[in-house]
Amino acid sequence: MLNIVKSPDPILLKKSQDVDLSDPKLKELSDQMFELMYSYSGIGLAGPQVGINKNIIVMDVCKDLDKGEVEHNPIVVINPKIIKRSKEMEKSQEGCLSCPGITAPVMRHKTVTVEYFDLQGNKQTVQADGLLSFCFQHEIDHLEGKTLFQTSLPESRLQLLKDYQKCLELGIEPGQFMEEDQDQQ
Ligand code: CO
Repeated sequence: MLNIVKSPDPILLKKSQDVDLSDPKLKELSDQMFELMYSYSGIGLAGPQVGINKNIIVMDVCKDLDKGEVEHNPIVVINPKIIKRSKEMEKSQEGCLSCPGITAPVMRHKTVTVEYFDLQGNKQTVQADGLLSFCFQHEIDHLEGKTLFQTSLPESRLQLLKDYQKCLELGIEPGQFMEEDQDQQ
């Protein structure tokens, strides 16, 4: 049974290692990561967030369709590399299952091109924009040992730490917020 690792656990600050694509347990691991992510209504979850410093991510950046229907797009992202970043930047307000209760402003590349392997060992190349682009950048930061406290705008960090301390004291769980709803990565 996997659990969400929360900041300030040092596991979140460690750089992850590449996954062996022939590992037969990858499917089971990714299934468990999806289950955990969905149980907290997250849109992305990276290895270190479940205590595994490996380059594996699960993501589901849903699309809202008409009539309140949602189109799911679950992907398993193994050993990802960002091979292209747009010069254009955009501010994104992000939450994180490992920092429950807070959201932080982060400057992101508007679009990124990501190369990764899927569960079948096939190489995939995705050019992402919008929320998908932000989600890739957020999750790949986790693999590099960075949380919102390292990636958010510097002027916001002191307040974030204070707010997070309060959330810890209040026992706020992943997926819960002090304020309005945000996408959880
Ligand atoms: Co996160």
